[in-house]
Amino acid sequence: MSEIPVRLARLGDAPRIANLSRTLIEAGLPWSWTPRRVATHMRAREHLTAIATDGGELAGFVLAQFGSRGVHIALLGVAPAYQRHGLGRRLVSWVEESASIAGLFAMHLEVRAGNQQARRFYANLGYRETTRSAGYYSGVEDAIRLERDLAVASPKLRQST
Ligand SMILES: CC(C)(COP(=O)(O)OP(=O)(O)OC[C@H]1O[C@@H](n2cnc3c(N)ncnc32)[C@H](O)[C@@H]1OP(=O)(O)O)[C@@H](O)C(=O)NCCC(=O)NCCS
Repeated sequence: MSEIPVRLARLGDAPRIANLSRTLIEAGLPWSWTPRRVATHMRAREHLTAIATDGGELAGFVLAQFGSRGVHIALLGVAPAYQRHGLGRRLVSWVEESASIAGLFAMHLEVRAGNQQARRFYANLGYRETTRSAGYYSGVEDAIRLERDLAVASPKLRQST
């Protein structure tokens, strides 16, 4: 599979990001990342939304919030047909490099406790699991919080800043 380019999303991308998020990330939960919420996220100055498209097809997306204490990855998804080709890693790297350029070195996020796929993925990227929040997802499922300190990240990431 050739490398799919990653770019900033546009407001018109909000519905398809929300739809893919619903099936990939929010299955079995109330739909919280609706097109309206994704669009609201995209409008905020301190938020970043990047997508990867293959032709017209949405292959992956990442939503992040830049705050005073670091960068929070709110949503990350890669469509099933594009998984295990390095796209998830590239989307996270895209946010991490933006964070480093902004002078922010603390990355954090939550995943569903039962999402072993994502937990293995983030462990592979150097994220460490810190705490568990009971019922974080609509009272249905616990969350695992993960963090990564970019100040002690790989030499490759530091060189790119
Ligand atoms: C988690 C997710 C984003 C990973 O995206 P991806 O493009 O498939 O991941 P990559 O190809 O970049 O994988 C990087 C590394 O992570 C690890 N990894 C990824 N998926 C894995 C899986 N299912 N099982 C075990 N390890 C996995 C591997 O070490 C992999 O490297 P390798 O393929 O060379 O062995 C994708 O599976 C996904 O969208 N899942 C559903 C939504 C989700 O869980 N989102 C995250 C929580 S919001």
